[in-house]
Amino acid sequence: MTAPETLPASLTDPESLRERALEALTTARDRTALLTSCVEEPELTAQHSPLMSPLVWDLAHIGNQEELWLLRAVAGRAAMRPEIDGLYDAFEHSRAERPSLPLLPPTEARRYAAEVRGRALDVLESTAFQGTRLTEAGFAFGMIAQHEQQHDETMLITHQLRKGPAALTAPDPAPAPLFTGPAEVLVPGGPFVMGTSTEPWALDNERPAHRRMVPSFFIDTTPVTNAAYQAFIEEGGYGDRRWWTAEGWDHIRAHDIEAPLFWRREGGQWLRRRFGVTEVVPPDEPVLHVCWYEADAYARWAGRRLPTEAEWEKAARHDPASDRSTRYPWGDADPTPEHANLGQRHLRPAPAGSCPAGASPLGVRQLIGDVWEWTSSDLEPYPGFVAFPYREYSEVFFGPEYKVLRGGSFAVDPVACRGTFRNWDYPIRRQIFSGFRTARDAGTGSS
Ligand code: AVJ
Ligand code: FE
Repeated sequence: MTAPETLPASLTDPESLRERALEALTTARDRTALLTSCVEEPELTAQHSPLMSPLVWDLAHIGNQEELWLLRAVAGRAAMRPEIDGLYDAFEHSRAERPSLPLLPPTEARRYAAEVRGRALDVLESTAFQGTRLTEAGFAFGMIAQHEQQHDETMLITHQLRKGPAALTAPDPAPAPLFTGPAEVLVPGGPFVMGTSTEPWALDNERPAHRRMVPSFFIDTTPVTNAAYQAFIEEGGYGDRRWWTAEGWDHIRAHDIEAPLFWRREGGQWLRRRFGVTEVVPPDEPVLHVCWYEADAYARWAGRRLPTEAEWEKAARHDPASDRSTRYPWGDADPTPEHANLGQRHLRPAPAGSCPAGASPLGVRQLIGDVWEWTSSDLEPYPGFVAFPYREYSEVFFGPEYKVLRGGSFAVDPVACRGTFRNWDYPIRRQIFSGFRTARDAGTGSS
């Protein structure tokens, strides 16, 4: 077995972990507050898309999950409002039906989430970070911070789908010189350690660490850009059945899909709507809002394919020089703005070739942040998977219905993003902050 990753002391010392948990919970709540205070109340209770919950549902669901895991499961407290549990159980009501439920109005939802948080911080202070799997290394607190941040990304998606003027703004990422390095990188064949058994807040589907054989392959140095994707459109990619799977072809025909979501053609150029503003599609930015079928078709048109999930993780974590898997492409240190575009600091991906400090040892860039990257893989458990702490986080989604996305987007907070983190969605979904990069086999002798 190749060596496991080495953790910084801040991820093993209980008092550092407690501080980390407090910071992660506070950062998440600040973001939640921003996403739910930047619009008027009617915008919080409205359903902006049948794909999404009303924002006020996310807000109270965040509080309810925190109550369930930190107050009831960790601290053994009684339910604060047992009558609302069903309303905020994601498996009891579909997103489409949530607006017709007797949800807590915005003021009450805010008050409920704040009350839970006040008590949760007392529990955080008084709980030993050991003894049970939930409390070991502060897992439940890390899990709940990640849960809130995942909903903060979901709420940002709702804001993107919302009609009307912009409510959120953020500075643009720094412009990057046009990337002129090699378009692809060879990842030499061999085994590597996939998944983790040591990252303290890794979720169940990232575990356990296990050895995987991955033959040599080439992978794109950067995510596929809007300019490259436009070439696929201009060359008639959406009208040529050769590039599409049977399901993909049927889907784009049935729904008249001819470009990424939020794009429209006007006066010979492509425009897009982004958080309430219409702008010319920037050519050097990673393409965003494509579904798996579109990513897969583009790759076939380009004479390539999507990377498997194992290929993606090997490119992102394996250092051939030391034969170790690291937490991130750049090593084991937590992400900084120099490494990756994360945390909704910018409301768009950074230009292709940005963040050289975040490159992998082989030179692959922007694996973390910017856009979620579709892989060719279905969501499957790793060998030795154990559902924890609840089957409904991952286990009920295993199977061929869902495709895996990796690496996080500009909308993901660092607490919910690492080299092992797994996301998934239906292959038709494109309201998510999804893009991709392509790969190809490296048969012996070819280059
Ligand atoms: C892992 C992003 C697919 O949003 O459905 C949130 C995360 N799970 N609440 C989702 C999640 C429970 C989940 N994804
Ligand atoms: Fe949730």
